[in-house]
Amino acid sequence: MQEKHNEIKQNAKIEIAKTESTKELNDLKAKYVGKNGEVTALLRGMKDIPAEERASFGKMVNDLKVEITEMFSAKENELKDKEMMAKFDSEAIDITLPGKTPLAGSLHPLNIVKNKIFDAFCGMGFEVFEGPEIDTDYYCFQALNIPKDHPARDMQDTFYITDNILLRPHTSPGQVRTMENKKPPIKILSPGRVYRADDDASHSPMFHQIEGLVVDKGVSLCDLQGLLDEFVKIMFDEQTKTRFRPSYFPFTEPSVEVDVTCCKCHGKGCSLCKGTGWIEILGAGIVNKKVLEMSGIDSNEYSGLAFGLGIERITMIKYGISDIRTLFENNVKFLKQFNRR
Ligand code: DAH
Repeated sequence: MQEKHNEIKQNAKIEIAKTESTKELNDLKAKYVGKNGEVTALLRGMKDIPAEERASFGKMVNDLKVEITEMFSAKENELKDKEMMAKFDSEAIDITLPGKTPLAGSLHPLNIVKNKIFDAFCGMGFEVFEGPEIDTDYYCFQALNIPKDHPARDMQDTFYITDNILLRPHTSPGQVRTMENKKPPIKILSPGRVYRADDDASHSPMFHQIEGLVVDKGVSLCDLQGLLDEFVKIMFDEQTKTRFRPSYFPFTEPSVEVDVTCCKCHGKGCSLCKGTGWIEILGAGIVNKKVLEMSGIDSNEYSGLAFGLGIERITMIKYGISDIRTLFENNVKFLKQFNRR
């Protein structure tokens, strides 16, 4: 009997070692310990065993059954691990392969510069007020101390819709509309599109300006200088300096044109600043008393400062762009250079 026992055990060991899949193993398990299996058959043979040997025979067969079952579960675990690893291998994703980056848009350089200007001035307490692009002669000229037939009207080549209605040639009407609606202290920026009959490498019939206005008690030219000094340092860099040159605008008295040290050569002189070391960036001044009075502000109590800058001009200086038209052609190769992702 012992021999039979050893033979079954030995055969099971050999056959289990040979199996290569859990399916094969299950079939084999049935052959040994299943309902009609070899070990089960031994148990069935119990009845033919003499009574005094039955107990030891039963124990032997049971031990055999336990041993064989353990051999099966060890092999089953081994095969399951192998099959799982094979599945992992076949389903593997190569995570080192570069993915496809979706094309993302980016801000237009004019918006980058506009946002930077807003950040600079809003950080100093300015609010934003937008006026209409189609405006009247009164707001665009008369209320800014430019009466009909005044020679200063020639400073801008205006698009008229009727005698009285026009495409605003500057954002300065934003000053007037604000002063009419708001009591001092006033600190506003008025941005937007403006239109002039001009078209060459440095002029576009539509471009963008930002008007700035501060009205309060005791506002002076020193405040204007301090404000613009701070602005150009934020806009260009810490070393940038400003210079005021006397100028003329009907709505400011005195009026100045403001230059900054060239952002390319820092004042030494280069092709960008035409060898002068300075670049003009905006017009400004102390608000003409007549303009304050026309908008209902007492010029004995309050004074104001104003400035007007062109976003295209600042963008061209900052990025060294020589032709304004490149800003409106929407050439993706040009625009991609400003993508800071
Ligand atoms: N409106 C002027 C222009 O378009 C710019 C300007 C100059 C605005 C002086 C101002 C200023 O507020 O004080 O050329």
